[in-house]
Amino acid sequence: MKLALSMDALSTVNADLLAIGVVQRGLGKSTAVATADKATRGAIAKTAKDEGFTGKIGESVLVQTLGRMKAARVLLVGLGPNPGERELRTVGVRASVLASRYKSVAVVAHSDSAEHVRLAAEGIAIGAYRFTKYLTGDRIPKGELKTGVVVVSKKADPGVKVGFERAQVLAESIHLVRDLVNRAPNDLTPAALADASAAACKEAGVTCKVMNKAAITKEGMHLLLAVNRGAGPEPRFVHMSYVPPKTDAKAPRPRRIVFVGKGLTFDSGGLCIKPAKAMIDMKCDMTGAAVTLAVIVAAARLKLPVEVHGIIAATENMPGPDAYRPGDVFSSLDGKSVEIINTDAEGRLVLADALAYARRLEPDYVIDHATLTGACMVALGPWTAGLFANDDELAVAYQSAAHATGESYWRLPLNDELRDMLKSDVADLKHTGESYGGAITAALFLREFVGTSKWMHLDIAGPAFGERAHGIYPKGGTGFGVLTAVRFLESLNAE
Ligand code: BES
Ligand code: ZN
Ligand code: ZN
Repeated sequence: MKLALSMDALSTVNADLLAIGVVQRGLGKSTAVATADKATRGAIAKTAKDEGFTGKIGESVLVQTLGRMKAARVLLVGLGPNPGERELRTVGVRASVLASRYKSVAVVAHSDSAEHVRLAAEGIAIGAYRFTKYLTGDRIPKGELKTGVVVVSKKADPGVKVGFERAQVLAESIHLVRDLVNRAPNDLTPAALADASAAACKEAGVTCKVMNKAAITKEGMHLLLAVNRGAGPEPRFVHMSYVPPKTDAKAPRPRRIVFVGKGLTFDSGGLCIKPAKAMIDMKCDMTGAAVTLAVIVAAARLKLPVEVHGIIAATENMPGPDAYRPGDVFSSLDGKSVEIINTDAEGRLVLADALAYARRLEPDYVIDHATLTGACMVALGPWTAGLFANDDELAVAYQSAAHATGESYWRLPLNDELRDMLKSDVADLKHTGESYGGAITAALFLREFVGTSKWMHLDIAGPAFGERAHGIYPKGGTGFGVLTAVRFLESLNAE
């Protein structure tokens, strides 16, 4: 999609749909609404009144302009009483989603500021997403959104469109996650995930090293191999790295951030098999890996002055004839012995090896994304990620990036009192705790493998995959996490 800036008078903006964000109870105060209302001879205000539109979050109203404006339809979107980044971005998303059958969409920027223009552009670009890979014949959508226009006043500085490039990069990164998550698990095997990662890295100028089963075995990642035992396809381990170009020979080395992602291309639960209902969406269990890939690609495309590594541990978890069993003992990459308790707690095993590998890179920060526990969804609901960190400064910086982007994270404690639950009679550790506190004991298990690294674990089991559309996120793969991670990396430069 192409993004463009328009300074045309509102009634002459050429688009199939023109969206205006309206602050709660601010309908009468919006100059954009007043202009559109005048051009449509009162149709906008009348429809808004008839439909009971007051500008609350979630409300919207669509009005046909019947040739009285160049735009064929006007969409009013409720912003709530105090719109922030999230609400302003949502206007563009709502507009693009509604206009998906048309060719062009326009959004009136909340003001002429570069910040408000950027948010409109991000929303338009992020909302222009459809997953059509497997559709055939009549099911292939005919139209496609080609142009997204951000409308500003005649007084605006044309330079306010500086954010367009960033908007495109963010949207394409989020769409990369959605595409990978939405792919069927028979199509997106661990090898296919590694291939897709290598291809995206190549395009963005990121180095990508892929290890096959033989290389993983040679390396000694026995926990990843244990999870893979019951699966048909081979596992993959991917190490991606982006080193920013040196600007000044005397400059200190850039910060090194290592992202780690859980890449379960399908999680059946293994021998401790999941009930059918709990298995249906388990193609989403590689979201952490997809987010890890998308973040490094975005960092490289935006040329951020931080060194970013991405580590992906990919396998299926299946109950094949050689599947790992409760009671088995395996050793991790860093030599700890682990007693298997429940084969459905496979994510922490593959992450343990990936974190032990990440720590060798001597990172300033290690950040893992993982659809790790149903318990985290029980605690926080479907739209909030759990955040665990062994470093307060890192947690605070990340929470502030999340707050700015409007993505929802909630810090949970690494409660040492629960550490005893991981004591094993036969091995260094057992890999699950008791039934209560499941998100925390999973995080405590991971902590055993990070050594002295400053580390944060993001349990995205809830927001990774939507049962229905919510905010800027569509049904299915959401791309949650990319906005915050990129914002966090940008905030490191600003310091
Ligand atoms: N992949 C699941 C967690 C999950 C659940 C992700 C729902 C997305 C939506 C994970 O591997 C898992 O099965 N965890 C178990 C752990 C338990 C066996 C200790 C869980 O949460 O039930
Ligand atoms: Zn599982
Ligand atoms: Zn899983």
